[in-house]
Amino acid sequence: MADMEGLEFGKSDFVLLDEVTMEQFMENLKLRFEKGRIYTYIGEVVVSVNPYRRMEIYGKDRVDAYRGRELYENPPHLFAVADAAYKAMKRRAKDTCIVISGESGAGKTEASKYIMQYIAAITNPSQRAEVESVKNVLLKSNCVLEAFGNAKTKRNDNSSRFGKYMDINFNFNGDPTGGHINNYLLEKSRVVQQQEGERNFHSFYQLLRGGSHDSFHLQSDPSAYAYTKEGTAAITSINDHSSHKAVMSALGVIGFSKQEILSINQTLASILHLGNVQFESDGESVHVLDVDVVDSIAKLTATDPDKVMKSLLYRTVATGGGEVIEKGHTEAEARSGRDAFSKALYERLFGWIVGRINSVIEVKDYNPVLHGKNTVIGVLDIYGFEIFDNNSFEQFCINYCNEKLQQLFIELILQQEQSEYNREGIQWQHIEYFNNQIIVDLVEQPHKGIISILDEACLSVGKVTDTMFLDSMDIKLAKHPHYSSRKLSPADKSMDFQKHFRIRHYAGDVTYSVEGFLDKNRDLLFQDFKRLMYHSSNPVMKEMWPDGQLGITEVTKRPLTAATLFKNSIIALVEKLACKEPYYVRCIKPNEQKSPLLFDDARCQHQVAYLGLLENVMVRRAGFAYRQPYARFLQRYKMTCEYTWPNHLMDSDREAVEAIVKQHGFQDDVAYGHTKLFVRTPRSLFTLEQERAALIPILVLFLQKVWRGALARMRCRRMKAIYAIMGCFKRYKVKVHFWEVEQRFANVRNMADYGKSVKWPTPPAALTGFHAITVTLHRRWWARQMVKKIPPSDMPEIRAKVAALTALGGERRDCGLIRAWERDYLANVRDCPESSSGFVRFSRELRNKDQYSQVLFSGFCRMVNWFNKSTDRGVLVTDKCVYKLEPRKRFKVLKRISLDALTGLSVTSGDDQMVALHTSTQHDFLLCLQRGQLSPNQDRVGELVGTLVDHFTRVQKRPFSVSVCPSNIRLHMWGKPKAVTVETKVGQTNADFKKSRGGFVLWVPVH
Ligand SMILES: Nc1ncnc2c1ncn2[C@@H]1O[C@H](COP(=O)(O)OP(=O)(O)OP(=O)(O)O)[C@@H](O)[C@H]1O
Ligand SMILES: [Mg+2]
Repeated sequence: MADMEGLEFGKSDFVLLDEVTMEQFMENLKLRFEKGRIYTYIGEVVVSVNPYRRMEIYGKDRVDAYRGRELYENPPHLFAVADAAYKAMKRRAKDTCIVISGESGAGKTEASKYIMQYIAAITNPSQRAEVESVKNVLLKSNCVLEAFGNAKTKRNDNSSRFGKYMDINFNFNGDPTGGHINNYLLEKSRVVQQQEGERNFHSFYQLLRGGSHDSFHLQSDPSAYAYTKEGTAAITSINDHSSHKAVMSALGVIGFSKQEILSINQTLASILHLGNVQFESDGESVHVLDVDVVDSIAKLTATDPDKVMKSLLYRTVATGGGEVIEKGHTEAEARSGRDAFSKALYERLFGWIVGRINSVIEVKDYNPVLHGKNTVIGVLDIYGFEIFDNNSFEQFCINYCNEKLQQLFIELILQQEQSEYNREGIQWQHIEYFNNQIIVDLVEQPHKGIISILDEACLSVGKVTDTMFLDSMDIKLAKHPHYSSRKLSPADKSMDFQKHFRIRHYAGDVTYSVEGFLDKNRDLLFQDFKRLMYHSSNPVMKEMWPDGQLGITEVTKRPLTAATLFKNSIIALVEKLACKEPYYVRCIKPNEQKSPLLFDDARCQHQVAYLGLLENVMVRRAGFAYRQPYARFLQRYKMTCEYTWPNHLMDSDREAVEAIVKQHGFQDDVAYGHTKLFVRTPRSLFTLEQERAALIPILVLFLQKVWRGALARMRCRRMKAIYAIMGCFKRYKVKVHFWEVEQRFANVRNMADYGKSVKWPTPPAALTGFHAITVTLHRRWWARQMVKKIPPSDMPEIRAKVAALTALGGERRDCGLIRAWERDYLANVRDCPESSSGFVRFSRELRNKDQYSQVLFSGFCRMVNWFNKSTDRGVLVTDKCVYKLEPRKRFKVLKRISLDALTGLSVTSGDDQMVALHTSTQHDFLLCLQRGQLSPNQDRVGELVGTLVDHFTRVQKRPFSVSVCPSNIRLHMWGKPKAVTVETKVGQTNADFKKSRGGFVLWVPVH
């Protein structure tokens, strides 16, 4: 935790000072600087003191320590602010910006680079290639912009001579998807002239010391060129040679083509050559001294040498009558024209480079529906307030810009804060602070402001001089408390008459020299140069000069002046920043010597004072670190209190919030506004956050549980509904089936076949069992109807047939069911015409003798005798006995067995007519029925079986077993077991027994 960082390092937040006085503030700042603690908070604002030495506090371990943590969890650091801005952007989809301010050399650019490195390090965990490439370009762009926009000044070896505001765009994942760089007022006068001890932009020295010279017609020594001569001796910590390599490689990484990189270097070389163009006058006209230089320029800019020469010496003007004439320059005009050209070449090159980088990093294919809200973090690193020995137009603009940013800081941090307390009815002791709006107005007010007066002077016809502009200001601003000049305060010898004016800036008094104000504001460049460059055959250069296509006679609107353009761009910038959630880094420069040890009390105190840091502490201390509308606060933390979770029953959200605050014991750390809760220390909120984070997993489980329950109930309801529907449908199908059966069978009583031919409808599954029963019922009923129609005389035959059917179980192919069963075939004249009468006589005698009442069956057959010989015999079955008869001896009875001795019979499943009648005495009958003329091919086995079974069942009332064997029959003859098989034989005319090993074979003919 920040405040656990040991008191020997001072207080990590100025808000924790015992007393808010300048002395204590400075003491703490100094102590921390000396102990190597360069960052200190004022609430969420980071105060940074330039260490002027390498600090080991930006490594990966530090990035990990600050990633996703709250501000107060770690010692103060830029990373913490960057993370806070990132978190606000990601959590609340808020656009945020980090404004880095401080004077030149205070460490703004370094801070902005660390912030960008941090953001790059914590984003894109999935290492997506396109995001990595955006990050890479964003980081590499710093190197390029510093080469072309930074220079060594007396205050800073790597001073940014342009303002930079970089927007980084993020997708809903929080990964950078692109960006945009806005650049502000490049100090282009530096291209042609530098103050003593300062240098031109780094890019020139890098080209000269690191580039290949031959192709650019250059020498490697910067003192050979007028524009770099001044800075040659300047000692810097910068290595131009290695920087050149780094910049060239960065350009390549960003996506500049070889042709583009060459054109950049050619433009730089052309500028260097231009600086060496010298003019001399012979009284009448002006000439260029060294024509070779002009040739080099023409080659490098891909233009015609004559035209280059002409543009340097003449200007084309349109007369009132539309005529075009060429007017020769004076020597001074030629010189200033050349310098203006050089400056413009550089300015456009810089603008083009920024535009080109933007075209690479701009967010492409962005679709808010697909990609969610595109959020932005802006990083502003703009030139700090500066006071030089000689302050000119550029310093005026830069300091104005700083006034505007200070105004934004005042508005956002001091003014808005205090007015919010008023609005919310919070008890508040108003804190006085210096509001610099008056200075902003002094510069930018319409008509009365310095920029208006300057523009007016520039627009005036006739010869207007810088001193006339000063006079005009002296008249119009005489009474302004922040403006003075020698004329207005003649006793002040630090200013010269007709030269100086002074503005009392929020950061101190700055004396400006009016010399060059008008020219710099007009920013004139002869049209001829624009046309020259537009007609360059180098497409990159041509692209930088689109306005050169206008003809001389084409009337062009007077362009806006440099000051007005700058003012407009700064107003736009402030608007852009004002709509974002700001985070501040306030940089302090500890000494002028760039020493890591020296803490110049006076200089630091001055910066603390003008940056308004003490006021910042006061407002912060008296004020509240966080505020949130009651509803939002409740929404976020209601789970931490039993009275508010899941919903409170109190009269208002405010009361519910009070309940949360009381539960956590924060009563003394908060104030209740009309619509918002104000929390004084971040620690309270942090505690709430921690508790919330601990509760979230439990809530998630709870929600999952509830949701699963809801899902299960839904599923259950659906199942119930499904079953209800299924039940209805089943009932419906049953009913439909019944209706159908009813309909189909309604008339069966009157049908000839009693409904036998009626097709049963397929029953639903539920009725399968029932269906089987109904079908049986119908069949029974049908059978009854059938049986009812049979005459009583046919009944014995029918019963016998039914008995045969039941006994044989369908196992014999043919049972002779479809023919009439005559039973007594031996007595039947149609079957046995020759022997029937004899048999009739014989049977009459036998009936009298044996007293049987009924012949069950009689017929011829083959039988096996005692000698295992097969012979023709007659078989007679009466209700008393079974007789074996000898037909050739008038049916003499050879053997008689009482029916009581019969136990059952065996037949085969084939067509053969073999029957084995089993006896209890093991003297079984084996016979093969022979058919007479009534049914020569039909089966008689069925008839014998049916008649015997029926008789045994109905008359004897004892079981009579019938076995059907597939091929062989087993029986006992004369007490011995025998097996009889049935085999076919070619050439066999009638079936006949033959002895075999185990018994007999019945040879049957082949059909
Ligand atoms: N955090 C730091 N660690 C180490 N050195 C630093 C740090 N910040 C600044 N410096 C040193 O201070 C020098 C000036 O810093 P920087 O260029 O960031 O200043 P600046 O505020 O951008 O100034 P200007 O307004 O002139 O651009 C750097 O070149 C570097 O040597
Ligand atoms: Mg800088």
